[in-house]
Amino acid sequence: MDTSLPHISVGLLGLGTVGSEVARLLRDEALIAERSGVRITLAKVAVAHPGRGRPGVPPGALTGDPWEVVTSPGVDVVVELIGGIEPARSLALRALELGKPVVTANKQLLAEHGPELFERANRSGADVRFEGSVGGGIPLVRAIREALTAARIHSITGILNGTTNYVLTRMAQEGWSFADALAAARREGFTEADPSDDIEGHDAAAKLAILASAAFGCRVTSGDVFREGIAAITPRDMAYARELGFAIKLLAIGRLRDGEVEARVHPALIPLAHPLAQVADEFNALEVEADGLGPVVLSGRGAGGPPTAVAVVGDIIDVARRRALGGRGFADPFRLLPRRIRPIDDIVLPFYLNLQVTDRPGVFARVATVFGEERVSIASIVQKSRGEVAEVVLVTHDAPERSVRRVLARLRELDVVKTVSSVIRVEATV
Ligand code: HSE
Repeated sequence: MDTSLPHISVGLLGLGTVGSEVARLLRDEALIAERSGVRITLAKVAVAHPGRGRPGVPPGALTGDPWEVVTSPGVDVVVELIGGIEPARSLALRALELGKPVVTANKQLLAEHGPELFERANRSGADVRFEGSVGGGIPLVRAIREALTAARIHSITGILNGTTNYVLTRMAQEGWSFADALAAARREGFTEADPSDDIEGHDAAAKLAILASAAFGCRVTSGDVFREGIAAITPRDMAYARELGFAIKLLAIGRLRDGEVEARVHPALIPLAHPLAQVADEFNALEVEADGLGPVVLSGRGAGGPPTAVAVVGDIIDVARRRALGGRGFADPFRLLPRRIRPIDDIVLPFYLNLQVTDRPGVFARVATVFGEERVSIASIVQKSRGEVAEVVLVTHDAPERSVRRVLARLRELDVVKTVSSVIRVEATV
């Protein structure tokens, strides 16, 4: 290797699923030097139990103290892979204060404290990079922040959680139960420490907050994102959706409409012909739409150590190169335009409903009357008699969410309606 190349030392916080893959990739110093023109070495690694030793990491590099990594004069770039808010936030802020670039895959930290990190980074001229926080190995952040900076993005629609996409794929393709599919996702290492973060949409909401902030130039936090998980989806819904020409996916949707931002994560019916309907297993994808550009779709492996490590090491190389050349950090993408987050009640969409009603004359008319009186128009309807009870599956035209809620409340009061077993939003545009 050319030892005359500029040299950058990396300090790593955390050696879990992603961290150990990052360490593995960094071992190929010669390849990285050849590609980047910078020699990058792993100088220090903070782990919970340094005494245990870690294959591939020199014992002298291991420490139990993450602050030692951050403050060591022998560390130029800090890579935060601990996850969670504290101590990750304080460690990252300290590194930035010291003028050290921070690379992180911590979506929670970015989605909740992004502006604070950027403000600190701008003050010291350091850099915060977070490609690994969203979409595993797919360069979504970079696409939005760099390649599409000139585009006026008005919509981002994504499958941003590998676990739920894997679960829904297994349920749709193999007819597996929700529990079996989730157990398989855990074995594959896709899930968060608490899988309800995946299933209930918290993980996708944090990722959407990060992407929507960058795409629309405003602050969107995880708490701003409307969220509904996939636990109520049944194989029956999957079968009906397919019959009607749709797949069911957990979508993360960001829209800029009349200066307001829609930010929501929920299961949705999506036409089988839509590119996102084809995204299977743990794969993630994002469709970006911008004025004059049309749809751009990026997809790839969105979960697991090796793909995420590619994103993290890509960021390390980028900041190392910039630092070696003496450049300042990357400018703050969070311009913090004050944009209102549109409440879910004001959102207008078609809906899919599955009801069980008493099968006798006049029932259908009573159900239809409720829809008519609330001005919710029915686009298609399928009724299947199952003896005493008939199952009614219907899809509405575009309707305000608040009107559909009123319809549901009234239907639940009708003695002829036994249950409303599913209510799923429809993203109908292809
Ligand atoms: N649990 C996450 C997922 C891992 O399933 O997508 C990647 O963030």
